[in-house]
Amino acid sequence: MDTAPTRSPRPPVTPRTAAVWAVLRRELERHAGRELTVVDVGGGTGGFAVPLAEAGHRVTVVDASPDALAALTRRAADAGVADRVRAVQGDGDALAGLVAPGSADLILCHAVLEVVDDPADVVAAVAAALRPGGAVSLLVAGRAAAVLGRAFNGHLDAASALLDDPDGRAGGRDTLRRRYDAETAEALLTAVGLTVEETRGVRVLADLLPAAVVEADPRTMLDLELALSTRPPFRDIAAQLHVFARRP
Ligand SMILES: C[S@@+](CC[C@H](N)C(=O)[O-])C[C@H]1O[C@@H](n2cnc3c(N)ncnc32)[C@H](O)[C@@H]1O
Repeated sequence: MDTAPTRSPRPPVTPRTAAVWAVLRRELERHAGRELTVVDVGGGTGGFAVPLAEAGHRVTVVDASPDALAALTRRAADAGVADRVRAVQGDGDALAGLVAPGSADLILCHAVLEVVDDPADVVAAVAAALRPGGAVSLLVAGRAAAVLGRAFNGHLDAASALLDDPDGRAGGRDTLRRRYDAETAEALLTAVGLTVEETRGVRVLADLLPAAVVEADPRTMLDLELALSTRPPFRDIAAQLHVFARRP
């Protein structure tokens, strides 16, 4: 289907999401005027799904939490896009059975690989669900930011553990199961035949600065986050790493 009117998404862009939306907008512009089939794995309450539906696309959100999906459904109804958003309760690890192979133009997988049982299985299912030419937007927690965060807070043992742990965990009480470096996140996608087009850092400064500084001049803060997002070494110390890749 390629006749539906689409428009540029108008999400509430903040320093915490600006770098991701910059990349997504560019992808939507590449297909301007075409209604895309989007899947948001672990899409939660629809912070990305609903603006994408408002922009004229069809979005399926697969999430393990019934509560998150209920909130998503209310949010989509409030925005007048209930008919464009489908909520599917399911585990990211079982994605292959939930989304038809070769059906998606764009798959979001944001802040999910840190909590699933087997990230390689999820990424393989994502690659299989993409059409040739389709793209994935992967957002994962960064190891370097977590090391620095623990150290700044005086938890030097936890910082050392995180630095050396193969999964980027700070011990058994860590709330995340794993974290990534730019190279390890990119390797996940290239291992399933996807071509990485861009890797950005998300929230390079936003979590490090006092809230008063972040809020004092939001426009400058947002511009600075965007400028730092593409430039190593700043990119590599971001709280999250955003990898955009395409199925050839
Ligand atoms: C940190 S939230 C991220 C939400 C959204 N993607 C975002 O970036 O705002 C993680 C989401 O993943 C969902 N989730 C956790 N484990 C999951 C799993 N195994 N399969 C699918 N979704 C899962 C949670 O219910 C939650 O909505």
